[in-house]
Amino acid sequence: MNSVKFILNKKIISVDLSQGPYGPTTTVLEYLRSQPHLKGVKEGCAEGDCGACTLVLGDLQSNGEVRYRNFDSCLVFLPMLHGKELITVEGIGDSSCLHPVQKAMVDTDGSQCGYCTPGFIMSMYYLYNKKEKASRDEIKDCLTGNLCRCTGYRSIMDAAEQSCGQEKRDNNNFSSQSKKLLDSLGVTDLAIETNKQSYYQPRTLDSALSIMSLNPHARIVNGATDLGLAVTKQKALLESLVDISCVNELKEINIREEGVEYGAGINLEDLRLHCADYFPALQAMLNVFGSRQIRYLGTLGGNIASASPIGDMPPVLMAYEAIYTLVSELGERKVTSREFVTGYRQTVMKENELIKSVFIPFPKNNHHLKSYKISKRKDLDISTVSAGFQLKLKEGLVEDIALIYGGMAAQTKRADNAEAHLRNKAWTRTNVEEAMSLLSKDFTPISDARSGEEGRRLMARNLLLKFWNETQYD
Ligand SMILES: Cc1cc2nc3c(=O)[nH]c(=O)nc-3n(C[C@H](O)[C@H](O)[C@H](O)COP(=O)(O)OP(=O)(O)OC[C@H]3O[C@@H](n4cnc5c(N)ncnc54)[C@H](O)[C@@H]3O)c2cc1C
Ligand code: FES
Ligand code: FES
Repeated sequence: MNSVKFILNKKIISVDLSQGPYGPTTTVLEYLRSQPHLKGVKEGCAEGDCGACTLVLGDLQSNGEVRYRNFDSCLVFLPMLHGKELITVEGIGDSSCLHPVQKAMVDTDGSQCGYCTPGFIMSMYYLYNKKEKASRDEIKDCLTGNLCRCTGYRSIMDAAEQSCGQEKRDNNNFSSQSKKLLDSLGVTDLAIETNKQSYYQPRTLDSALSIMSLNPHARIVNGATDLGLAVTKQKALLESLVDISCVNELKEINIREEGVEYGAGINLEDLRLHCADYFPALQAMLNVFGSRQIRYLGTLGGNIASASPIGDMPPVLMAYEAIYTLVSELGERKVTSREFVTGYRQTVMKENELIKSVFIPFPKNNHHLKSYKISKRKDLDISTVSAGFQLKLKEGLVEDIALIYGGMAAQTKRADNAEAHLRNKAWTRTNVEEAMSLLSKDFTPISDARSGEEGRRLMARNLLLKFWNETQYD
């Protein structure tokens, strides 16, 4: 099937991507901006940072419900809309009949130049249609991915509180018509071939693996929050893509006696909500990961596979001693998170393999686990230095310790010398301070726009001291 079929503001749309002018890596934003009456959506940064391009996406779930999320349309390729519902600002209200979130924005003077406004409106529209009324914290988190340069956030927050913070909201039957429309689409796997690109979107893991083995050089794509930038920023031509975002087997969560197995395709917002009760250090890291728009697209597997030295998941997953299951047509194998990355953006993954799932064992009572992220600003920023620490104490002595740092080397890396110094010793401030001085042996960090080398060393030392301090109160 070469055509992408989706619902756009309650109308069925079909776009043939094999003929042009659109191709498999045309972004949703580019597509809409080329349409005569859909220019409400705006381009600010084209890299997921400003939220001017925010839209709402509806997915039919296995329980028959439609689930909505706000997302950055500058990062999403057009075929990723296949079988889904897209809502733009034109679909929710107009000057003759404003939606309650639009009315609230007018009432609180929440818009000045107006460039950011459609993006804010769409994030608020998503919040408005959630079952629960939004708390102030929820509103703040949801609007983190929307930037405004001129109005100031107080009036925008007021608008969100007035419209989405109320118990009684007229959002019943929001999705009943959508369900019928989505059902009627009857979508099947996509296989788009143009003279320059191929794009496959399978719906089962078996089918994904067999496409990968037939196309050994194809790139996997899931949320596209990393790969999308290669297109929008580096103008790269991605010749062959296997989009695994519709493979439900990769989104499963299995709670076992010894831990939880998360499908690698789970998005980071679902992971953040689920892991709260089981893995607080993981949730702490996810609370400051990108924005909600980014977390709804980006996946656990995508973050791990990117193997970025400043990726936020690897240090904390290594601290938890997570185990990854890799799969190809030849079968499955397990790799520990601590041996997965082998160098700068290098991993043990072979051609045709993908990450299927991530098993996180429950920590034992004598295990202390924390994660830390230092960045230029709290939200929507990448790490300058990050860390995942695990301490196993036995009768006041360090039975084992893992000090894993991001941003300190070309890959996520353990502080071997500091760890060795602490093992089998008392967990005292004196011993910790000695270990802190050994961190300079463990790392030779770079200087860049985020921090000088000495700044990074200082952050690494102080994070260890902070960890010691916090374990005194566990
Ligand atoms: C605005 C913005 C903010 C961000 N903030 C953060 C942040 O705070 N912290 C952070 O760590 N990152 C951040 N990122 C980076 C990105 O969001 C994450 O790395 C995300 O987890 C990538 O997941 P994805 O599904 O979007 O990956 P994709 O872009 O789809 O893929 C990334 C890479 O992983 C591979 N891949 C994807 N899934 C699999 C799989 N299951 N098996 C094998 N290979 C796979 C792809 O082939 C590709 O090489 C940010 C990105 C943006 C644009
Ligand atoms: S244009 Fe800035 S987030 Fe998409
Ligand atoms: S109103 Fe001008 S950028 Fe927000």
